[in-house]
Amino acid sequence: MQIIELSDYNIYVGEPWAELISFLREKDYSSHFVLVDENTRTHCLPLLLDNVPGLDFQIIEIASGEIHKHIGTCQTIWGELMAGKADRQSLLLNLGGGVIGDMGGFCAATFKRGMDFVQMPTTLLSQVDASIGGKLGVDFQQVKNSVGVFRNPQAVFVYPDFIKTLSFEETRSGFAEIIKHGLIADHAEWQKIQKISDLNQVNWTEFIIPSLHVKERIVKEDPFEKGLRKALNFGHTIGHAIEGHALETDRPLLHGEAIAAGMIAESFLSHKHAGLAEKTLEQITEFLVNTYDLYPFGKDLFPIFLNLMEQDKKNEKGLINFSLIPAAGEVLVNQTCSREEIVEALDYLNAQV
Ligand SMILES: NC(=O)c1ccc[n+]([C@@H]2O[C@H](COP(=O)([O-])OP(=O)(O)OC[C@H]3O[C@@H](n4cnc5c(N)ncnc54)[C@H](O)[C@@H]3O)[C@@H](O)[C@H]2O)c1
Ligand SMILES: [Zn+2]
Repeated sequence: MQIIELSDYNIYVGEPWAELISFLREKDYSSHFVLVDENTRTHCLPLLLDNVPGLDFQIIEIASGEIHKHIGTCQTIWGELMAGKADRQSLLLNLGGGVIGDMGGFCAATFKRGMDFVQMPTTLLSQVDASIGGKLGVDFQQVKNSVGVFRNPQAVFVYPDFIKTLSFEETRSGFAEIIKHGLIADHAEWQKIQKISDLNQVNWTEFIIPSLHVKERIVKEDPFEKGLRKALNFGHTIGHAIEGHALETDRPLLHGEAIAAGMIAESFLSHKHAGLAEKTLEQITEFLVNTYDLYPFGKDLFPIFLNLMEQDKKNEKGLINFSLIPAAGEVLVNQTCSREEIVEALDYLNAQV
């Protein structure tokens, strides 16, 4: 068990049961609720119930998937908390991926003006990214995460074994955030990442811990996304546009797949704009192309991508905002690039995949 201590809560990485039991004993909550979806109910909940015996958990199940991450589902969750007589001394344990963590955390933070919650992330993406940083919320009127709050959990329990039942595609998608964390802030980690040739053979704990440290460090310095936290946006300006468009086609991309494409294009921008060495650009491109099944985008889509980028909430004064890497392991925020440069970067991406 590894413990990462933050100012107001701990992240526990490893088999969580002993720590969870002593945490629950110490807190002495009046009741315990667990939020799951149908997949984490099948694959993760039995482990929790078997290993934390003698405690009464009331189960709240919602349907899986981003399409259910909205205020209507929150009403169901709040309703079940009411029906189960949750009070401000109760606990909500969010057992699932980023959807469960973001929405369950939001419901807990707002129920009766706030009850305690803990995150038990079960996807690779939520273990290295979504479960820390305190951002909670839901999608509203087709805008992702547009209603929410900042609030920290009481604890995060990262159990890498949960990844075993996750699909290859979901695992690979979460891996993109690990790559991103290496590229923006941990050169040694990026070197280790490049040695991975088979994602089925990876000991994820070895990669989750350094990755969590990167996110933790960045979030600690900038909890409310005023500046440095934008570093986490590397690959996401172009990646989100690609993801947003792909979701409306018959070839939807998982978040991490779109971010992988975004990181190729934004590494090109980093080369043009921020001094990233050509050799490093080639290494990043080669690794991402070999790891992900990417495909080229028609040039007719470029204006659509550019329009989507212009709507990004991180822009200021109408310029498209990027976080770029001058070298592997370093990052510069608030870099703006022209439309021509972005088109060149998309051309570069197309030529590689
Ligand atoms: N709060 C943040 O800072 C932050 C950061 C990044 C992403 N996010 C959010 O996270 C969400 C994406 O998270 P995600 O990728 O974890 O998606 P997800 O929660 O939808 O999970 C992906 C799929 O895997 C299934 N699943 C989860 N754990 C499993 C397991 N152990 N075995 C088998 N199946 C399992 C789920 O049921 C779901 O079908 C998005 O809504 C995004 O906005 C939030
Ligand atoms: Zn991401």
